[in-house]
Amino acid sequence: MENIVLIGFMGSGKTTIGREIALLGGRFLLDTDNLIEQNMGKSVREIFQSVGESGFRRIESQLILWISANVKNAVIATGGGMPIYNDVSYLGRVFWLDVGFEQICERLNARQREQRPLFADMTKARRLYHERKDIYEKQAKYVVGGGGSPVEIAREIVACVDKAE
Ligand code: S3P
Repeated sequence: MENIVLIGFMGSGKTTIGREIALLGGRFLLDTDNLIEQNMGKSVREIFQSVGESGFRRIESQLILWISANVKNAVIATGGGMPIYNDVSYLGRVFWLDVGFEQICERLNARQREQRPLFADMTKARRLYHERKDIYEKQAKYVVGGGGSPVEIAREIVACVDKAE
């Protein structure tokens, strides 16, 4: 089974929807931020503090190589910057969770924003969102809107993959 790859801005619901896809059966959830945190024994925030964003991006690129060589039958929830700096299309079938910036801000509470160094400054985060939209669109094979519950979106994604396979 081909991997399902979820991309999108911070807070667009990649992990939540990935979890629902895994619950529908047949695919194991891999969350790239979680894998990096476990592997490094540090939170993403601490990694940014110790090796900077460029160091974090290097680890992400290594992880991509590892996933592409070793992972099948998975749903992969990527960090929001992963498809900006890497070609993720060869990891599997790529879905962009296209959620508006205002909706993202409503979803993320203060603690969730704090965990994300690139969300510390709201003006910069908004700019980043608009800079990245075109890149997400180019990397994705399918675009999924923000309407609907996580379960509904998960079902929509799986139905789309089943139809194509
Ligand atoms: C980032 C998104 C984060 C995490 C890191 C950088 C980004 O993941 O990888 O803080 O550049 O958009 P989420 O998209 O899961 O928040």
